Amino acid sequence: MVLASGSGSNFQAILNAIDSGSLDASVSHLIASKPGIGAIQIASGARIPVSIMSARLCGSPAEFEKQLLQLLKDQNPALIVLAGWLLKIPSGVIQHFEGKIINIHPSLLPDYGGQGFYGIRVHQAVISDRRRISGCTVHLVTEEFDEGPVIARKQVPVYPEDSPETLATRVLEQEHQLLPATIQKLLHP
Ligand code: GRF
Repeated sequence: MVLASGSGSNFQAILNAIDSGSLDASVSHLIASKPGIGAIQIASGARIPVSIMSARLCGSPAEFEKQLLQLLKDQNPALIVLAGWLLKIPSGVIQHFEGKIINIHPSLLPDYGGQGFYGIRVHQAVISDRRRISGCTVHLVTEEFDEGPVIARKQVPVYPEDSPETLATRVLEQEHQLLPATIQKLLHP
C-alpha cells in the first residue's frame, strides 16, 4: 500500500525495484491525496487500484480518518509506505497500524524535519545553513511530523555551488535507492 501526493517518483522507484527483482513485494493499492497527480498516472499504467482521499475531499477530518482506516483495514497491507505524501495521517490510523507505516523524508532527520519542512523548503534551509552534508531518511510514522524512529538514512554531499534544485535532485536519486531497499529489509528481514 502506497500513499502519495506528488509526482510519484518514489512510487515509480518501488515499482521499478519490484520489476527488476530487487524488491520482493507487490503494491496492492495507491492512495492519492488529490486528483491529477503523477502518482495516479503511474498507478494506472501499472494497473494498480487508486483511491483519492483527503479531509477536504471527504468533507471533514473525522470522515477522512474513518474512510482511510476502513480502506486500510480492508486491504490489511504488510506495510504502508508514504512516498511523497504531504498530509498528516490521522491518529486513529497511526494507532491501528502502529509500526507498519513508513515515510521517506528528504533530509537527514532529525535535522530539517517537522511542520513546514517539505519539498524544496528543506533544501533551501540546508543551503542557507551552509551544511556540507544532507541526505534522506526513512522513518516510522508517529503522530508528530517526521519524528518517528529512524529506520535508514543515506547521506549526500552539498556543494558550494548547489541550488536547492540541484541538491533536491541529488537527494531524490538516493531516495529512489533507499526507499525500495528499506522496504525489502522490512518485509524480508
Ligand atoms: C521527495 O523528496 C519525498 O521525500 C518528499 O516528496 C518528494 C517528491 O516525491 N516527501 P515523489 O517524486 O512524489 O516521490
